[in-house]
Amino acid sequence: MTTPTSHPFYLDCDTGIDDALALAYLLATPQAHVQGIGTVSGNVSAAVGARNTLDLLQLAGHAHIPVAVGAHDPLAGSFGGGAPHVHGSNGIGEVSLEAASVSLASETAAEMLVRLAHEHPGTLRVLAIGPLTNIAEALRLEPDLPRLVEGITIMGGAALAPGNLTPVAEANIANDPEAAALVLSADWNVTLVPLDVTMSNVLEERHRQELLASSGPVPRALGEMLGYYFRFYESQFGRACSAMHDPLAAALAVGGVKAAVAPVVHVDVDTTDGPGCGQTVCDMRGLYMDYPEQPEARCRVVLSLEDDFAPHLVEVLLSFGGAEGTTAGLAGAVSLT
Ligand code: BDR
Ligand code: CA
Repeated sequence: MTTPTSHPFYLDCDTGIDDALALAYLLATPQAHVQGIGTVSGNVSAAVGARNTLDLLQLAGHAHIPVAVGAHDPLAGSFGGGAPHVHGSNGIGEVSLEAASVSLASETAAEMLVRLAHEHPGTLRVLAIGPLTNIAEALRLEPDLPRLVEGITIMGGAALAPGNLTPVAEANIANDPEAAALVLSADWNVTLVPLDVTMSNVLEERHRQELLASSGPVPRALGEMLGYYFRFYESQFGRACSAMHDPLAAALAVGGVKAAVAPVVHVDVDTTDGPGCGQTVCDMRGLYMDYPEQPEARCRVVLSLEDDFAPHLVEVLLSFGGAEGTTAGLAGAVSLT
């Protein structure tokens, strides 16, 4: 049941360790009421991401939320095999969860998004934390989608920061630039959460230890997964810690954290096959000079936050350690392979 202060959400993800954190954040936040989840190939295939999502939902006591498998391949080309070096071969850091007993939805992710947009006209919030293939397909299915939803928050891109897949391109955008170009040129209320802000808000080992010390299986499972993620990010930060891409996008979409600097600018996606492919070309000239308003500007690009994000994230995730998290049937459902 959606309360006046709770918003219906559609989550599109490629689950993924940080996707798992984002999902847990939404489930633990009373302001978010997740109506459906679609998966897309990115960190893992759309099919593996869907299984991970179902297993996480069951662990969290939310197995009733429908999960639809979305696009396996990007709009142009084919799925490249994911990022096992970042997320592990199973996408969730080699942590093995009890297999969910519920089935996948019979609709596709794009169909689910369009259906939910019609069922919640003007109020549905879309959170996209994987490549944007499903969202682009939904726009093709329902050209009125931008007017039907309240808005979309996207983890992706890099405005002034370097990329993470190529020197200039971030993974979610680079894995399907054609889809990103379609989605970012649609006329809707769009917030982009790029690497500029997700790489500068870091989860430390002490935060991971807090999750591991929880009595609840959800924070403990996330703490285990983060061990794998931290090892990848150690090569970039020089210590055991990680960026917080997807949960930060979730928190901004819910309103759990506030942006400090977030200009509304024009964003183009490079879909050429040159070295800029997948780059989000954000018109940030207004940061340096008194630049005239951009008539086509419609994308709010988050560059920094009002407050440190990690303590908030940990506090929200630890709320799974209460009655729900200690349900006897869930205990021992997490193990490392
Ligand atoms: C994004 O790419 C994926 O690996 C993460 O889950 C996140 O959505 C970061 O570039
Ligand atoms: Ca993701």
